[in-house]
Amino acid sequence: MTDLHQHLRERVLAAVGEMGLDRDVADPLVRLGPPKNRDHGDVALGSFQLAKLAGEPPPAFADALATKVAPDDVIESAEAAGPFVNFRFRRAAMAREVLTAVCVDAAPYGRAAENGQVVCIDFSSPNIAKPFHIGHMRSTVLGNALCRIHRHLGAKVHGINHLGDWGMPFAKMMTAYMRFGDEQALHESPMRYMFELYKRYGKEAEADPALDAEAAAHFKALESGEDNEQRRMWQLLREESLQAFQGPYGRLGVSFDHITGESFFEDKMEAAMARVEAAGVLEESEGAEVVTLKEQGIKVPCLLRKSDGTTLYHTRDLAAAFYREQQYRPTRILYVVGAEQKLHFAQLKAVLTKMDEPVADAVEHVPFGLVLSKGPEGKWEKFASRSGNAVFLDEILDEAVNKVRQVIAEKNPELEDPQQVAEQVGVSAIVFNDLKNGRIKDVKFDWDAMLNFEGETGPYVQYACARLSSILRKAGGDVPDVASVDFTHLADAENVLLTMMGFGAAVQRAADQSEPSVVTNYTIALAGEIHSYLVDHHVLGADPAVRDARLVLVDAARKLLTTGLHLIGIPAPARM
Ligand code: ARG
Repeated sequence: MTDLHQHLRERVLAAVGEMGLDRDVADPLVRLGPPKNRDHGDVALGSFQLAKLAGEPPPAFADALATKVAPDDVIESAEAAGPFVNFRFRRAAMAREVLTAVCVDAAPYGRAAENGQVVCIDFSSPNIAKPFHIGHMRSTVLGNALCRIHRHLGAKVHGINHLGDWGMPFAKMMTAYMRFGDEQALHESPMRYMFELYKRYGKEAEADPALDAEAAAHFKALESGEDNEQRRMWQLLREESLQAFQGPYGRLGVSFDHITGESFFEDKMEAAMARVEAAGVLEESEGAEVVTLKEQGIKVPCLLRKSDGTTLYHTRDLAAAFYREQQYRPTRILYVVGAEQKLHFAQLKAVLTKMDEPVADAVEHVPFGLVLSKGPEGKWEKFASRSGNAVFLDEILDEAVNKVRQVIAEKNPELEDPQQVAEQVGVSAIVFNDLKNGRIKDVKFDWDAMLNFEGETGPYVQYACARLSSILRKAGGDVPDVASVDFTHLADAENVLLTMMGFGAAVQRAADQSEPSVVTNYTIALAGEIHSYLVDHHVLGADPAVRDARLVLVDAARKLLTTGLHLIGIPAPARM
């Protein structure tokens, strides 16, 4: 809440006190929110519950309340509209409050003090020995944004990469490598080579079902814990993959607090199984061990151990939940994983619920939709590259960067360090596109739309930011002291200021709903408002006092846009 809102709240409470209500009882009923329409005012209060407390009809109560809250140096007006009271702040007071707070980095514009929340975010988590595909990129950018958003709000965040480096998928790759692999070729281009092996395994296993049995045997040997060939193979393939993933992670600006993949839980699964058994929910079914979940409304039982004694993806997720609970004491554990794993996470939560484990409440699947590309017939379909079914993220990023290089060469051939700017803008265009719509929606991967400098795109918001930087540079660099500004000169910047004031609520909503798109759209809105303002409010040519006030506004917009972009993992170049 801003100081303005705090002040308004105090005035409302004083007024309802004068109207005979108990302040402490009334306090939680005073809910100030945005009005339905900006023209009605800056803040609205629905008086239903207060009126009920007072035993009066809401419109009459709203009328009386509006009269009691007389204008002062912060509040310009209070007007009743039916059961609502709409308040307006004085424009100069609003400008002073918002711009000072942005300028000194006060919360919510800057990072908040610790809020006591602990949030584990399980994201990216590709399967090693398979290409890092476009779906993993969505998890990566969504998870990265959520980490930054929660940190901004004061949570202790644990960003976790639950790497798929164990289990049957991995065993298949290992089998292929042991049969047909070549170490030299692996070192040269690990991801591409592994992908070739992966495809080859698929083909050969079709013709020869014995291959799957071989893979199962290799996995069993790996899980035996012995120092054997399988273990050495595992180590080699894991290291090569991890190193290869660093490429895209670096370019996307993503890092993890913990890389605890599935293999990390190798020695923690027995204890987890014992815990399930002790809870009395483990059942035997044809030699396998399962938890049935009918009472939890899920038909498919959760398989925790196969009849050959080996463990599964689920077993590791269960062990991971216990581990996280004990290590981090999380308030929330967010699993940023595609919607196709809905059942898996419903089962995980249901098993924990059936066991009466409190951590069940913390488990939250954060699903997202697919990435679609235009197929040969012009229809949107599941993403595939032109050459076939492999999609290497680094190739996509390179393509984006090359396209932006061309635009820069045309539009701004004088730009210093065009390669670096192209990298920042090209990669961001893809990230922004991924984070613009609600996460559950499928994303259309459309180069023209993503790279349009005038559309609702990453380049557009970055460009708006660079333009603000350029105005500040031309003004000589130093931003006037916010304390010396005459804010009456910003009376007509209300749309920019009101949008700025919405920043905190947008970030909070993004966190509550695990929806970074709220922040992405916020940056679009703010870029649009400041752009419109600057169309008919010149900064550099204005009278000194006006110019100073506008420079402070421009600087605040630049700062806030930079923060907004940062929260979704996007850099703001100073020139482009
Ligand atoms: N490795 C899995 C995959 O690529 C995603 C893992 C998600 N995280 C988890 N705790 N299950 O599909």
